[in-house]
Amino acid sequence: MKFFVDTADVGKIKDLAETGMVDGVTTNPSLVAKTGRDFSEVIAEICSIVSGPVSAEVAATDAPTMIAEGRKLHNIAENVTVKVPLTVDGLKACRTLSDEGTMVNVTLCFSSAQAILAAKAGATFVSPFVGRLDDIGSNGMELIRDICEIYANHTAFKTEILVASVRHPMHVVESARLGVDVVTIPPSAIRQLYNHPLTDKGLDAFLKDWAGTGQSIL
Ligand code: G3P
Repeated sequence: MKFFVDTADVGKIKDLAETGMVDGVTTNPSLVAKTGRDFSEVIAEICSIVSGPVSAEVAATDAPTMIAEGRKLHNIAENVTVKVPLTVDGLKACRTLSDEGTMVNVTLCFSSAQAILAAKAGATFVSPFVGRLDDIGSNGMELIRDICEIYANHTAFKTEILVASVRHPMHVVESARLGVDVVTIPPSAIRQLYNHPLTDKGLDAFLKDWAGTGQSIL
């Protein structure tokens, strides 16, 4: 399962890239707005740090302008993945850009029916938002289970499931259990994956006992 980082914060991406676990990056207009930086510059900088897919989202809502924006974004770097919303126009743009050989991430997916359409439109990735479904009292991971089952039944569907709107470690663990292709995780949730109180407690005890021996390895 691939790990993408869900942020446009270049400092955090650099820091996490050092762990060797970053397979790609996803951004969206809200994440870019938070940085206060120029969109194209941020995407170019992220692409210089991470060689895997870097999602950059179009801002238009009509297919012709989405396609033009997508082509411009793709010109920034080979690994730019054009992100389009799951709308009729978004899926038209997805088909055109995918046919041109550009990776496309269809975002804002909230149902299995939408995920089927994304696959039919030739999306490289479909992004179901699990956290936002949980927020309204639905079960985000149930949607992932459904999409996994549907895609597995249709070998013609080449779209990868990219679990998005991840809020906590259990979203990641459950995604791994279901065999999804990619999880995009905000930096704060990636840090949470490392944590366990028994690890901290155990390490404290080991260090204390080691200090008592008066020895040094180096
Ligand atoms: O990149 C899209 C996505 O992961 C959004 O997450 O937390 O704003 O629902 P969130």
